[in-house]
Amino acid sequence: MTVTTTTAAASAVTNAMADNRIFWQEEEQRLDQLVQLALWPGGQKAVDRLAKQGKRPVRELIGKLIDPDTPFYELSRIAGFGMGYPGVDDVPCGGLVTGIGKIYNNWTMIFANDSRVKAGTYFPITLKKHMRAQAIAERCGLNCVYIADSGGAFLPMQAEVFPDDQHFGSMFYNMARMSAQGLKQITLSTGGNTAGGAYIVFMACQSVMIDQKAYSFLGGPPLVKMATGEEISAEDLGGARVHTQVSGGADHFCGDQEEAIARVREILCLEKPREVRIQRFEERPPRVAADRIYELLPAAIHQGIDVRGVLECLADDSMFSEYKRDYAPGRGDNIVAGKMRLKGLPVGVIASNAVGIIFVEAARKATEWIVRCSQEKIPLLFIQSSPGYMVGSESEHMGIGKYGSDMVRAVSCAQVPRIQLVIGPDNGAANYGMCGRAYRPHFLFHTMRARTSVMSGRSAAGVLLSIEERKYQAKGQPMSEEDKQAFREKMIAKYDGEAHPFYCGARLLSDRVLKFEELRDWLAVAFEVSLLKEIGDPSFGNFRF
Ligand code: COA
Repeated sequence: MTVTTTTAAASAVTNAMADNRIFWQEEEQRLDQLVQLALWPGGQKAVDRLAKQGKRPVRELIGKLIDPDTPFYELSRIAGFGMGYPGVDDVPCGGLVTGIGKIYNNWTMIFANDSRVKAGTYFPITLKKHMRAQAIAERCGLNCVYIADSGGAFLPMQAEVFPDDQHFGSMFYNMARMSAQGLKQITLSTGGNTAGGAYIVFMACQSVMIDQKAYSFLGGPPLVKMATGEEISAEDLGGARVHTQVSGGADHFCGDQEEAIARVREILCLEKPREVRIQRFEERPPRVAADRIYELLPAAIHQGIDVRGVLECLADDSMFSEYKRDYAPGRGDNIVAGKMRLKGLPVGVIASNAVGIIFVEAARKATEWIVRCSQEKIPLLFIQSSPGYMVGSESEHMGIGKYGSDMVRAVSCAQVPRIQLVIGPDNGAANYGMCGRAYRPHFLFHTMRARTSVMSGRSAAGVLLSIEERKYQAKGQPMSEEDKQAFREKMIAKYDGEAHPFYCGARLLSDRVLKFEELRDWLAVAFEVSLLKEIGDPSFGNFRF
C-alpha cells in the first residue's frame, strides 16, 4: 500500500515537472516570436531598401565590430512594443540596438540606430533605452561605440523627447562626462545625423564618417534654404569629406561600411585591457543540468518554488554555501542567503524561496547578508519571487516595517555590484527589498515567469472592488453579483497584463527577458562586466535594528 502510494506520488511529481517544461518552452517560443519582430522590422523589404542605400542591417555591422566568433549580448530587445504613441503603436526594439560585446577583448557598450524603424528617430522609449545603456556603461566603466544613423527627435513627440533631463540633450551630457572619466566615446556615422543628432558625431572622442552616406549638420538642406536662401546638397553641407577635410568636426574618412568598422576597431585596438577587480576562481560547470530549471519552476506563478534547486542549476559545481540554513524554519527560509561561484566569480545570493512572503526573520537574515557581502566586497545576486512582506498584526508588532526598511536601506547603500533576476511574483515592497529598478541594480533581468506589479491582479481586484462597492452604496445602488464579477475580471486582466514580462520589457523595466537556459551565461557576463570597476567601502547610514 505504502509502496503504491509512494510510486503514485513520485509519478505525479514527474508528470508535473514534465508539464512545467512544456509550459515554459512554449512561453519562450512566444518570446522568440516577439524578438523576431524586433530583429527584422519591415521584413525583407526594409533590408532591400537598406541594400539600395549601401547599408547593412545594424546587427551585421555589430557582428563585424566585435571580436570574431564572440557573442553580442544584446539588451532590451523587446523594448517599444505596444507603446500607443500617436500614430505609431510599435517601435520595434525601441528603434535602437544596444548591448555589450568585446572589442580587442575589452567589454564595450555598443549603440546602433536602426534606420528601418522610422529613420532611427528618437521616441521616448528610444531615449530611455539610450540612457539606460549609457548608465550601464558609466557604472561599469565601459568604452562606448555609437553607430549613428538617425533622423533625430521623432518630431510629432518633441515635447516628450526634447526638453527634459533624460531627454535628447542628456545623451551628449553623458558622452561628455564619460569621456572626462577616460571612457572612450567613438561614433561611426553611417547615415543622417541632423540638428541635435549631429552632436553624436561632434561630441565623440573620435568619429568616423562614410563617404556619400554619412551627413552631419545642425540644419539640413531644407532648413538652410528656408533660413538663409542657400541651396546646397547634403554632401556639400555636412558630408564625410566636409567634416574630415574642412570643418575638422570628424576624424576619419572611409569609403564604405566595412572600412569604417575596421577603422573603429583600429581606434580601440590599443586600449588598456580591463580586468575584473575580484579573485576569479577556476570555472566549473554545474553538476545538475542547467535546463532542469524548466522542470523546477511551476507554471502557476504563485505556487511556491524550491530555489535551492534553481541555484544548483546555476552555480559552479552546483555548490551553494548557505548562510543560516536552519534559522526560523517556515519563516526565515522564505529567503535563502549564501554564496556560490558563477563561472569562477564569487557571488553572494539573496533568493526568494517557497511562496516568497518575507517574514521578519527573512528580512533580518537578508539584511545581515547584504552587509556581510558588502564588507567582503562580494557582488550580490537577488533572485526575486516574492509577493511582498508579511502583513497582519503579529508581523506589524514584530516590526516588519522596521526590518523591511532595514533591508531596503541595506540594498540601497550596498556599494557592491547588484543584479536582480525575477523568476516569479515581484510585488509591493518586496520589489524594493529585493533590489527592483528603483534600487539601481547594475543589471535587471526578467524571465517569462516574472510578474512585476504593485500587487497581484487578484489582490488588486479585491481592494479596488471594495472601493467601488462603497461608491455604489453611497449612491444607494449596491453592485449586483454580475457587476462585481465583471469588475474583478477587468482588474485582474489589467494587472496581470501590466505585470507581464512583455509589458515590462517593452517599457524597459527589465534589461532583457532571459530564457531559463541562458541564465547562467548571462548572469556570469553581467557580473564580469559589473566587476570591472573597483568596489568602494561599505557605508550604510542609520539602521533601526
Ligand atoms: N520625425 C518624425 N518622423 C520622421 C523623422 C522625424 N525627425 N525623420 C524621418 N521620419 C519618418 C518619415 O516620415 C518616414 O515615415 P514613414 O515610413 O511613415 O513614411 C520614415 O521616418 C522614414 O523616413 P525617410 O525620409 O523615408 O527615410 P530616408 O532613409 O529616406 O531618410 C533622413 C532619412 C533621416 C535623412 C530623413 O528622413 C530626414 O531628413 N528626416 C528629417 C531629419 C530632421 O530634420 N530631424 C530634425 C530632428 S531634431
